[in-house]
Order: sequence, then C-alpha cells, then structure tokens
Amino acid sequence: MPAHSCAFALVILNDEPCIQTMTDTRLPRVTLDGPDRAGPSTDSASSSVPAVRTQALRKVYKGTGGKTVEALKGLDLEIPRGSFFGLLGPNGAGKSTFINILAGLVNRTSGSAEICGHDTLQEMRQARLSIGVVPQELVLDPFFTAREALDVQAGYYGVPVRERRTKEILEAVGLADQADAYARTLSGGMRRRLMVAKSLVHNPPVVVLDEPTAGVDVELRQQLWAYVRKLNAAGTTVVLTTHYLEEAEELCDRIAIIHKGDLVACDDTPVLLSRLDSKELVIVPEVALDAVPAGLQGWDCELQGPRRLIVRYRRRQTEISDILDAVRAAGISILDITTHQSDLEDLFLHLIRSQPGAS
Ligand SMILES: Nc1ncnc2c1ncn2[C@@H]1O[C@H](COP(=O)(O)OP(=O)(O)O)[C@@H](O)[C@H]1O
Ligand SMILES: [Mg+2]
Repeated sequence: MPAHSCAFALVILNDEPCIQTMTDTRLPRVTLDGPDRAGPSTDSASSSVPAVRTQALRKVYKGTGGKTVEALKGLDLEIPRGSFFGLLGPNGAGKSTFINILAGLVNRTSGSAEICGHDTLQEMRQARLSIGVVPQELVLDPFFTAREALDVQAGYYGVPVRERRTKEILEAVGLADQADAYARTLSGGMRRRLMVAKSLVHNPPVVVLDEPTAGVDVELRQQLWAYVRKLNAAGTTVVLTTHYLEEAEELCDRIAIIHKGDLVACDDTPVLLSRLDSKELVIVPEVALDAVPAGLQGWDCELQGPRRLIVRYRRRQTEISDILDAVRAAGISILDITTHQSDLEDLFLHLIRSQPGAS
C-alpha cells in the first residue's frame, strides 16, 4: 500500500456513519474464474437463487427535529440471476436507498435483503463479496492514482496480488492511460469510470450501478455500456438505476419502477414499454375544424380546439405516414405538425394514477 494511504475508510452515507477498517472487514479470498464463482463457494451460487431478493424491505430515515422519511415502504423485489435489470424512478423514489442497503451502506429498518441468497446482515461478508456497487456519489481518495485505488480496493476484498486484474479492468473502462494519474486530476467522466472499475476488482456476480452515466459524455457512455454488456453476457447480473428511459430500454431485459418507496411496476422490458408506447400527433389544420372529420373516426382522435387535432397511436403498430394519409384523405390540409412521445414521466404518471388509492 502506498505510504500516504490510510488504514481505514470513513464512510458517511445518509444517516448511517460507519467506520470500516481494512483489517476488521477484510473479506475472504475471492476466486476469479468466472462471475458466478466469485465469492465464497456456497450452494447459494446456484442459478435458481435470484441475484437479489428483497421482501417487505422498509427504510425509515430519522431526520432532524424528529421528522422521519419512509424511503422504502416494504419492497418485494426479485432480480433474476444473469439479468440486466433496470431500476427506474424519479428523484427521491428510493433507488439509492435500495442499492445502499444491498451494499451494506444503509441499515434497513425491517424486512429482508439477500444477494445471491446471502442476507446482507446475517451473512454480510458473503453478501458483500457477491456484489460490486458503483454509488451515485463520486467517492474517491484524491491522493490515490487509479492503479492504487484499484489495488487498495482489491486488498480490501482480499484478492491476492497475482489474481488482480488491475490492468485489464483499467483498459476495459478506458483508463489504461490514466493508470498513474491521481484521482483528483481525472475528469468527472473518468472518475465515474474509476468508480466502476473499483466495483469490479473482486469479480462480483452482481454489479450495481447507481446513475452511472450522470456526467459521462456520450462516447464514454457507449464505451462503458459496451463493457457492462460484456460483463452481463459473461454471466454477471447487472442492476442499473437511471433517469434515462432510453438507456434502460436499450440495455435492460427487465425493469422495475419505484415511486415514493413503492414498487409500481416490474416487468420484462418489452411488456413495460408496450405500456408507454403511445405517441401523439398534434396537427394544426389550415382550416379550422368544428368536429373530428368522419374519415378519422376509426383513429383515436381528439379535437382540442378548432386548430388543434390530436391523433394518438402506438408507435410500434402504426406508421406516421398512415395517419397522414388518413388525415389528407379526410380532406384536411396540414399547416403544422408536431409529435409528442410518452416518456418515463408519462409512464410514471400513468402508473401512479392507476395505483389503488393513488393521490
Ligand atoms: N440520509 C437521509 N436522511 C433523511 N432522508 C433521506 C436520506 N437519504 C435519503 N433520504 C430521503 O429518502 C427518500 C429516497 O431517497 P433516495 O433513496 O436517495 O432516492 P433516489 O435515489 O431514488 O433519488 C428521499 O425522500 C430522500 O430525501
Ligand atoms: Mg439516487
């Protein structure tokens, strides 16, 4: 370890400060012969055990002045082994709380949380070995170089020097040229990638990335995803939280949506997307209308004003050109046209409104 490194890390996340010493949390040796074999050899590595399972998982934060925040309201969630899983939700939904509980950085209030069958509290070491977490906040020691940061992390997990994949990981995240650069000199995007690299040193079967593309430019984002995809193809379960639906749509085979600490949807991506497949075409006709023309009765149309005709359609089923043909055939000359695609926000609103007892 470099002379300027310290023997402990002070982690203060949320309301749970915890001092972790390198010695008292030193974890068992990890084997590196494949994602599903990382961590201790227990029967829980069998593929029938989900990568993550939470039951009635609840977290209540105690704020100042006796105020409490119920960040998770009894979450039942299963993340299948080998999946690329998206955890979506607006700000404050409870995504980071969920992930930090899995990472052992936040104490749950009640319920259970298991990683590859290991309870995050009762089998803390096995659980921690089974997961690599890239937290939302950038937490890096500015006085370590990228290489040192990975070495320290590998040491923390008890990975023997000869089994360390420092070079391979740095190359994979596009930081090979920065191996000897101090973290403080790296750009935001590079720091983010160094965080990703750190999460991989112990070859965990489950990798969780909490909003990893915030502040990462497009090219590097693609590079990051290419690597994460490769990890997933090799059997690693990847859990991603993001604001960007397109990102989730492109990458994830299954998506859960949480809102105010509740699970509002969890489905295979195509099923979920079919729910937000609706698009709107806003047509401004040259001549004011007083009713939806008869020729358009078969379409989902609404006249929102004499010069504002809305046609709603499913983008996977309908070609815009078909709508335009129908509009012209109905005798309408189009002055202007815009489209509005339902986005995550709309899906949230839709799902939340359709919740029983939703306010
Ligand atoms: N340490 C904390 N103390 C009090 N409230 C917190 C703390 N951390 C998070 N919260 C609250 O818990 C809720 C969920 O937050 P978070 O898990 O960060 O959501 P997300 O990651 O989805 O944006 C929010 O209302 C947030 O303000
Ligand atoms: Mg968050």
